[in-house]
Amino acid sequence: MVVANRLPVDRVENPDGTVTWRTSPGGLVTALEPVMHSHDGAWVGWHGAPDEVLDPFENDGLELVPVPLSAQEIEDYYEGFSNATLWPLYHDVVAPPEFRREWWDAYVRVNQRFADRTADVADQGAVVWVQDYQLQLVPQMLRELRPDLNIGFFLHIPFPPTELYIQLPWRDQILRGLLGADLVGFQLGGGAQNFLRLVRQRLHLETRREHVHAADGRTVMARAYPISIAAASLHELASSDATAARAAEIRADLGEPKTLFLGVDRLDYTKGIPERIQAFGELVAEGRIDPDEAALVQVATPSRERVEQYRHLRDDIDRQVGRINSDVGRIGRPPITYLHASYPREEMAALYRAADVMIVTPLRDGMNLVAKEYVACRQADDGALVLSEFAGAARELRQAYLINPHDIDGLKETMLEAMNAPARIKSRRMRLLRRQVFEHDIEHWARAFLDDLNRVVQGKVEWPSR
Ligand code: ADP
Ligand code: G6P
Repeated sequence: MVVANRLPVDRVENPDGTVTWRTSPGGLVTALEPVMHSHDGAWVGWHGAPDEVLDPFENDGLELVPVPLSAQEIEDYYEGFSNATLWPLYHDVVAPPEFRREWWDAYVRVNQRFADRTADVADQGAVVWVQDYQLQLVPQMLRELRPDLNIGFFLHIPFPPTELYIQLPWRDQILRGLLGADLVGFQLGGGAQNFLRLVRQRLHLETRREHVHAADGRTVMARAYPISIAAASLHELASSDATAARAAEIRADLGEPKTLFLGVDRLDYTKGIPERIQAFGELVAEGRIDPDEAALVQVATPSRERVEQYRHLRDDIDRQVGRINSDVGRIGRPPITYLHASYPREEMAALYRAADVMIVTPLRDGMNLVAKEYVACRQADDGALVLSEFAGAARELRQAYLINPHDIDGLKETMLEAMNAPARIKSRRMRLLRRQVFEHDIEHWARAFLDDLNRVVQGKVEWPSR
């Protein structure tokens, strides 16, 4: 059973009163949906709308158990504590986190509701896999209600350095919440190390290597499991004739550029979208990129639109793109095509397939699945990936063109290098990237985590000798 803030689908009420279900945004759903399709379990989560109590239902072969949120809880627990306190704090405070006591109270209350709902529906001895920063108290709450369950937790975003984490007024409560799990998974080893150090410093618990001696005598393991995508099925979609035709159409609509640069993100201030647009705009303004020969397409999914920082970001990008296109564009040939919308998988695959250079520039990102999706969609060893060092994916995708997104000049040089590199060099890099992504796909990730969880709960994990 998976427990996540969001269900894999959002309930959308159309103007004519009919209801449809749409895939929820973000990497968590992209990654976990194929896992749940192959493991046959239930998914507990919120369906994306306020003040509605829904019964469990089946959608696309998955059993979904909705947890209701009131409009006030969406404001305090989701937009507030989850996305204006934890999200910026865990992403290296690239925006200032806000600490508000009423948001924390809502976080505790809603976490308890997720735990209660899960405890109601989980079978005896079930494996319950709790996901992400919105639900960090659920493992402990669930263990109190249902000690028979095997509880895993996975954090999809970075776990911050200890100096930042300790700003959080409720730092100890969250550590205790996570320790309710048998296995706590992180994207990178550094996150697991930060967590283990905090458990020692703040809770005075004994740790050895990846193990914690919890207050109730259990051994809890904390380890890295870099998340991934369903690489083979995405590749298959990208290889279809329909995708090929759509990719060709996209390039034709853009005036057959020699080089198509692509950015794909949720509209989030962690993603470094202004930095990449700035770099591209300067290259065009300086005459180093000819807008008759190269184009940038930036696709941004609307996200968390009522949170202040996200509203500002949206306005800033609208202005920035408008300014560049009006300064250096020509009739019928704006250098930047900016789309503020969410597209179906088929369209995303066509965009990836069409693009010559993918630009992924987050200031901080737990993993970044877009980078892996681009690699999986390649048809031959062509194309180039420009990737921020500050994305978790950079640890695995060593053959990408790695950049520091704060260094605009460095980014510009690397974008040119990726655009102009000889086919032989690009192909060597892409071959290695593809191998990495196909060998470490989402099934590999799920198996690694669930096998370890099984070993921990069976008591097969030995307390390591020094
Ligand atoms: P995050 O989880 O922070 O949003 P990831 O890069 O890990 O970042 O995952 C983003 C997911 O959302 C990917 O699966 C990507 O394909 C998808 N996505 C991003 N932008 C769009 C868009 N405009 N339309 C449809 N899907 C999108
Ligand atoms: C990231 C987070 C997920 C979240 C997703 C979309 O991937 O790690 O937990 O679901 O973004 O954000 P949203 O706030 O729309 O759920």
